[in-house]
Parts: sequence; C-alpha cells; structure tokens
Amino acid sequence: MDTAIPLLTPYKIGNLNLSHRVVLAPLTRQRSYNNVPQPHAVLYYSQRTSNGGFLISEATCISPTGRGYTDTPGLWTEEQVEAWKPIVDAVHAKGGIFFCQIWHSGRVSNTCYQPNGEAPVSSTDKQLSPQPRGSGNEFDTFAKPRPLTIHEIPHVVNDFRLAARNAIRAGFDGVEIHGANGYLLEQFMKDKVNDRIDEYGGSLENRCRFPLEVVEAVANEIGAERVGLRLSPYAEYAECGDTNPEALGLYMVNALNKYGILYCHVVEPRMITAGEKGECPHSLVAMRKAFNGTFIVAGGYDREDGIKAIAEDRADLVAYGRLFLANPDLPKRFQLNAPLNKYNRETFYTSDPVVGYTDYPFLE
Ligand SMILES: Cc1cc2nc3c(=O)[nH]c(=O)nc-3n(C[C@H](O)[C@H](O)[C@H](O)COP(=O)(O)O)c2cc1C
Repeated sequence: MDTAIPLLTPYKIGNLNLSHRVVLAPLTRQRSYNNVPQPHAVLYYSQRTSNGGFLISEATCISPTGRGYTDTPGLWTEEQVEAWKPIVDAVHAKGGIFFCQIWHSGRVSNTCYQPNGEAPVSSTDKQLSPQPRGSGNEFDTFAKPRPLTIHEIPHVVNDFRLAARNAIRAGFDGVEIHGANGYLLEQFMKDKVNDRIDEYGGSLENRCRFPLEVVEAVANEIGAERVGLRLSPYAEYAECGDTNPEALGLYMVNALNKYGILYCHVVEPRMITAGEKGECPHSLVAMRKAFNGTFIVAGGYDREDGIKAIAEDRADLVAYGRLFLANPDLPKRFQLNAPLNKYNRETFYTSDPVVGYTDYPFLE
C-alpha cells in the first residue's frame, strides 16, 4: 500500500504483519439464524478482507444466557464452531487476520432470548428502558434483570474461556473480549449501573474485577498474544455510564498491562450514541499513552480523521464500522481517495442474506 498515507502503512501487531491500519470494526448483522453462522457470512467477510488486513467479527455470544437479540452467532456448540470454520477459512484465504468478538449481553436482553424464559443476568436488578434500534423507528424492550450471585460469576468467566477456546478451534487468530457498549462486562465496570455491595461492586477495583478475571482466564486459555479487549468508558449506550470515565479507562489499561494482552480497542468519547457523533472535550490520549500494547480507536472516523490519528500517533490502528459495512473495499477506496457508498441504516439488522449485506458495490 501507499507509504505516503499513514493509514495505509504496514504495522506489526504481535507476530502478525498487517499491510495497513484500516480495521473492520465488530458489526452485528443478525443474519446467523438460530445463533448459527450461515454460509452467506463467507461472502460478507471475504468481501471485506484485504491481504494483510485486520478484521474483527460481529459480537458472538459465549452462552445461551449471553443472547440479547435475534440471530446473532454463538460459540458454545460444536455446530457453531463448525459453521464458523468456512468463514474464517475464506478470510485467511485472502490473507486477512481475523479475531472473534466474544460477548455476553447481560441485561440488554429479554426473557424471549433466555433459556426457559428466565430473567437475563447483570450486575444489578435495574431494568433498561426501551432503546431505539436500526433506523430509530423501532424500539427494543428489555426484561428486569437478575443480579449474578457471587457463586455464578466464575461460571460466566468460564463461559468466556470456553468460547475463546472454541474461537481458536474454529480457526480465528484470536479473540476480542467485548467490554464495551453497555453489555455485561460494562454493567459491572460502570458505577451508574453496578450497585453491588459484594467484592464485585463499589470501588473501581471491585467493579473491574470481573472483566479482568475474564481477561486473565481467556489469556491463560489461548495466550495473551491472541487477546484484545474493547472498551467504551465514555459512552452511555444502553444507559450504561460512569461518573469518572477517565479514571475507569486508565485503571483498565494499566491493569491490562499486567496481562500483556495484544490490544486494547477503545470507542471515542465523541460517540454519544452508537450512531451519533458530537463535539467532545475528552480524548483517549491518556489511555493510549498508558497502554503498552497495540491501541485501536473507533467511532466516527472518516479517511482524513484516520490519517490524522495515525500521523499524530494517537492510535496504531483505526476501526471503521458503518463505512466498512457499506464499502467492502474500504482500504482500497482510502488508498485511491475514491468516493464511498452510503450506508443504509434500514438494512443494518434485517435478516436478508444478500440485501444490505453482500450487495454493496465494489469500485469498478
Ligand atoms: C450495524 C452495527 C452493528 C454493530 N455491532 C457491534 C458489535 O457487534 N460489537 C461492537 O463492539 N460494536 C458494534 N457496533 C459499533 C461499531 O463497532 C462502531 O464502534 C460504531 O459503528 C462507530 O464506528 P463508525 O462510526 O466507524 O461506524 C455496531 C455498529 C453498527 C452500526
């Protein structure tokens, strides 16, 4: 790629050689019927693969209780492991590096997704109010959660560990633990949600205990060099906010340094909601400086913004969500400074195996 454009320069992440810094952000597409990845995902991911490119999969549930939406993929059965294999193989065949984002949605769920119609689990029993979805005309509703007991937490840690093992068995190069966007691990980290009085609540150290136990277990299982963690300390998605995001972010990256994991992937403070970019006085520079591994940023980046972030050493890699969703050949378009396809929100989460999924055009 063109060495004159910082975003398109090579980068070595651990032992892996990347040819550019344009990462596919994790994107839930809800086309994995009955939680099993489908053959159409082979084309979708392979379209977004470039030689030496880094891809992060859509959020993938670690267990049946981790589900919060219809038709998201999982990694807790043999059928799911087998179904991921051809998808991972297709990415590897084109020279891509592929990490699986492993996920537990916690209270961002409803009884219809839970085994035996039970209540979803969380750090708390505080119920989430209905949240807009996709185009914003529809709302997801959520059930009152049940706080995990102190004895159940090790089982969930173990579910993350087993899912990571399964990801490696499916052929993934590593996993990204989903510690962002209001899901289970964030429901523990953030003080506006976590109201526990046991050793998993209260102080920053206590609130971060469970996510760090997950990091440790997963790193022990598959090797720290194959583990990333996604965080969004500044965001308030799914009513999950913290009164001191600076302290939370810094505490987490300093703790991660002890485990020597491969990367930390952080959502920009300017992302007020999952789809809205605003002006913001905060920055991720302190976290970037404190973290010893590869630092990935995401949230509202365009080409110029990404080039600047790399040129100014505010990040090693930049993850693109909506632009990559709509532009399968995004690194090439950035290289040529070519025009971009517009994304269509209406089809982000629809279940069609082609429309809004694999039918975004390539450059001629
Ligand atoms: C359709 C869609 C699905 C998403 N799914 C996930 C997901 O599975 N896991 C995750 O961590 N973030 C998810 N996100 C957030 C994106 O990874 C990214 O942080 C966000 O879109 C902001 O980046 P962008 O401005 O480049 O789109 C999703 C976003 C969109 C638009």
